Amino acid sequence: MLRVSPTDRVFILTGAGISAESGIPTFRGAGGLWRTYRVEEVGTPEAFRRDPALVWEFYSMRRRAASAAKPNPGHRALAQLEADLQDRLFLCTQNVDNLHEQGGSARVVHMHGELFKSRCDTCPLPPFDDARTFDPPAEIPRCACGGRIRPHICWFGEVPFHLDEIFRALGDCTVFLAIGTSGVVEPAASFVAHVRGPDRSGRGRARTIYVGPEEPANSSAFTECHLGNAGEVLPNLFRLE
Ligand code: APR
Repeated sequence: MLRVSPTDRVFILTGAGISAESGIPTFRGAGGLWRTYRVEEVGTPEAFRRDPALVWEFYSMRRRAASAAKPNPGHRALAQLEADLQDRLFLCTQNVDNLHEQGGSARVVHMHGELFKSRCDTCPLPPFDDARTFDPPAEIPRCACGGRIRPHICWFGEVPFHLDEIFRALGDCTVFLAIGTSGVVEPAASFVAHVRGPDRSGRGRARTIYVGPEEPANSSAFTECHLGNAGEVLPNLFRLE
């Protein structure tokens, strides 16, 4: 049970694990995407420069898988928590699928981008909704400026999105809850250490809780670990006071 007081401000970080029960593969577990694809070939700006067709093939496959997926009770439990806590909840996800939104969450901060958006790799054209999938050897879509259209994803070696807003929310929170993330990719893996940093009194500032079927790499930074699947644990986890 996770007690939430009327003054608690809750920061939630989700990873691929919260979408696992919806049928979307994770990255590092059994059947994970990085077990069948090499990051260097599909998940970096250099990969896109070298072979944009292979990168679009990878993201088209992910768009097809994600568009067939439905939100699970874990997504819906977080949407209910948003309705209960309003602006005392900050939901940050590393996921690029839209299952939080489909599950009813209205304010979702996608720090690694969004699968169903694209943008130009050259000009400042804002990201735009784009569910197109491309099968090889389809033409790489072009922007009016002549640049190539790329998935609106934060690739390895690029800076995640919304970090100012995220670190402000980390500084404010009294409860930090991480769900379904292996704790190996920065900067998200260090968010928990950031909120554990001593406040002016020298005490650790926030309660830190993890939910997932196995302990994450950064488990020592969590005060509580609820071992189990998100879809089963989250619906009964929160007790609002
Ligand atoms: N419920 C909760 N957690 C689960 C479930 C489940 N049903 N099934 C698996 N998990 C957990 C696994 O135990 C693992 O700890 O989800 C985690 C998934 O870890 P990763 O595959 O490493 O995914 P994630 O931590 O989100 O990866 C972070 O790495 O490749 C990049 O940009 C990509 O956003 C991604 C980032």
